[in-house]
Amino acid sequence: MTQKQTLTVRDNRTGDEYELDITDGAIRASDVGKIGKTEDEAGLAVYDPGFTNTASTRSAVTFIDGDKGILEYRGYPIEQLAESSNFLEVAYLLIYGELPTREQYERWEHEITFHTFVHEDIKTVMRGFRYDAHPMGMLLSSVGALSTFYPEARNITDEQIRHEQIVRLIAKMPTLGAWSFRHAQGKPYVYPDNDLSYAENFLSMLFRMSEPKYEPDPRLTKALEVLFILHADHEQNASANAVRSVGSTQVDPYSAVSAGIAALFGPLHGGANEAVLRMLKRIGSKEKVPAFIEGVKNGDERLMGFGHRVYKNYDPRAKIIKKACDEVFEVTGVNPLLEVAQELEKIALEDDYFVSRKLYPNVDFYSGLIYEALQFPPEMFTVLFAIPRTAGWLAQWIELVDDPEQKIARPKQIYTGGRELDFVPASERWK
Ligand code: ACO
Repeated sequence: MTQKQTLTVRDNRTGDEYELDITDGAIRASDVGKIGKTEDEAGLAVYDPGFTNTASTRSAVTFIDGDKGILEYRGYPIEQLAESSNFLEVAYLLIYGELPTREQYERWEHEITFHTFVHEDIKTVMRGFRYDAHPMGMLLSSVGALSTFYPEARNITDEQIRHEQIVRLIAKMPTLGAWSFRHAQGKPYVYPDNDLSYAENFLSMLFRMSEPKYEPDPRLTKALEVLFILHADHEQNASANAVRSVGSTQVDPYSAVSAGIAALFGPLHGGANEAVLRMLKRIGSKEKVPAFIEGVKNGDERLMGFGHRVYKNYDPRAKIIKKACDEVFEVTGVNPLLEVAQELEKIALEDDYFVSRKLYPNVDFYSGLIYEALQFPPEMFTVLFAIPRTAGWLAQWIELVDDPEQKIARPKQIYTGGRELDFVPASERWK
């Protein structure tokens, strides 16, 4: 016998009963709104600050099972993509839903490479920032500014125009990210080198000086590709939600993506790996780890890079990054903080405090160590996250634009302020 997919609710204020449909494990908030609704009274609302249990969309982009530690892009396990794919192929998969044919991939790679340059006036915009401007502030402003260069981008229903903006955004993000880095260092901006791959070209724009051709170590390029793949999407996280929320107004994708960058800038989202690095430096040596762990258990400290709202198991991305660490350190020499990190992980994974709370390493636990080994200052860590996440933001954006169920994002509130007060003009109040 098939079970009835409904929920029966009794409103004890009135004794009325309601039967709500359950579809895909969810009830509709609009059905809840029918409960207790009369001509004079609004129906019941759902109060959920931070959307901890509210689905805002149906999505076929990314699947996460936090209890089992599973992450899949369009159904493909992250481990397989990190091992055998590259960032541009993964970006195509996320955005267009299918792995590209050889022809599609070659066209995609060509288009992205062709669009890596930015208008010279964008360079002028970037030059206008103070010498110590935070690179994330520069990135979000310059991406927002791109909308003024491509006014046709406002036509979001035209598939060809949409595709052109997607290509531009993915192509130009490394250029803007690298230039925001060079700006802080007072170094000349390096133009893209279209003979190089996506990751190689980014490294070239970051680090090239007077050499005629920049040739990054292939092991570093591979590590960067892997990091890019791991950060490309993570379903309805805060920045994807920002892109969707702003995108729901039907604004152009540059403006929507710059909202995503702004959300990522916040320390609760993109900034945790920097905090891990600071923590490891503060601990300083392997011998001091047990005392630090005691501090965490007493509530005096927090073990940064551990725990996750969704993953209640080892974050699958952390496992892959841990492996990438070894490859990077082969080239750069071992970061002495690795020993501290490994000891922390070993002790924490055996300790009942962490085991009982299901606290495992997350994506940020090891990524900061790699970024530091690659000589990035901490302010750049979030830029390195924003560049690949652009693919995910665009995949979420295009899904939103094509979804007939989506409406302008406009949550309800529970009003707690005063009502029907009599206004007294300033001239009388201040007498
Ligand atoms: N160190 C020590 N204790 C922890 C940690 C930690 N890193 N994380 C959670 N706990 C404890 C909490 O104190 C709480 O204990 P209690 O039940 O005794 O009160 C319990 O575990 C549950 O923790 P919550 O804070 O309720 O879990 P929540 O899902 O709200 O928080 C978060 C998740 C914010 C990621 C948290 O684990 C944390 O602060 N981790 C450190 C910061 C970090 O690494 N953030 C990066 C996340 S990945 C990303 O955003 C890309």
